[in-house]
Amino acid sequence: MLPRVDVEIRFSPSGRRVRVPEGTNLLAAIRQAGLPVASACGADGTCGRCGVRILDGGDGLAESQAESDVRRRNRVASGLRLACRVAARRDLEVTASYW
Ligand code: FES
Repeated sequence: MLPRVDVEIRFSPSGRRVRVPEGTNLLAAIRQAGLPVASACGADGTCGRCGVRILDGGDGLAESQAESDVRRRNRVASGLRLACRVAARRDLEVTASYW
């Protein structure tokens, strides 16, 4: 069994940080940090409400066609990623307009 690898998610502008197992989705990390995040679909990836901006570490976090379709259908602002669809594979810095 491979050892568990944790990654650190930093939240701007508060500076709050959480460590989560690699692959945890950002929505879960945000909730673990105690920060508010909108979600009308229960993290089903359909409502487009959980948009966040990845400030650092997001290079190479490819967007799936499904995420792209949901963002377009829900008119999610350019540059935002759906927190429930992004798996944290490395340390990230994230922000939302309402934090
Ligand atoms: S919580 Fe609905 S799309 Fe992410």
